[in-house]
Amino acid sequence: MNTILVINGPNLGILGKRQPHLYGTKTLANILDEIKSIAKEKKIKVDDFQHNVEGEIINFLNEKYIEYCSSKKEKINKRLAGIIINPAGYTHTSIALRDSLEVFRQENIPIFEVHLSNIFAREEFRHKSYISPIANGVVSGLGSYGYIAALHKIFELEENV
Ligand code: DQA
Repeated sequence: MNTILVINGPNLGILGKRQPHLYGTKTLANILDEIKSIAKEKKIKVDDFQHNVEGEIINFLNEKYIEYCSSKKEKINKRLAGIIINPAGYTHTSIALRDSLEVFRQENIPIFEVHLSNIFAREEFRHKSYISPIANGVVSGLGSYGYIAALHKIFELEENV
């Protein structure tokens, strides 16, 4: 069964309570349940991870890189169909996170960057993303629907694999 990684950065574990006028009222668990039930219909597994610490997210990505992209390729029945990531505050600061994602691009694994709010309609420091230049697509300002849109795009890409 193919897998999609759904990664959420700092302060997204408190969605639902956190500035609902910006981020909505759904909790992260609500959003992940929705993603998983849609993915299940397509027989795709969702491996989700949320952490507030930059290095922990990078550790997770490095582990998955070794697991799915090691040169031995003995696990041919295990493939990564794509990565959906809301890097949250690290979007605007982290070269290290970008580097840990960029290696998946070399393996032709699509990366979608999602933001619940429209980062371009907010403070200027949020207008720059270190992640966007290495992403296949960016969704910003569609609320939790952004994750679902990215998921459907990965399904579409899967049909052409
Ligand atoms: C966010 C936007 C970021 O600027 C912010 O730091 C977040 C959430 C969003 O989903 O809109 O934590 O990524």
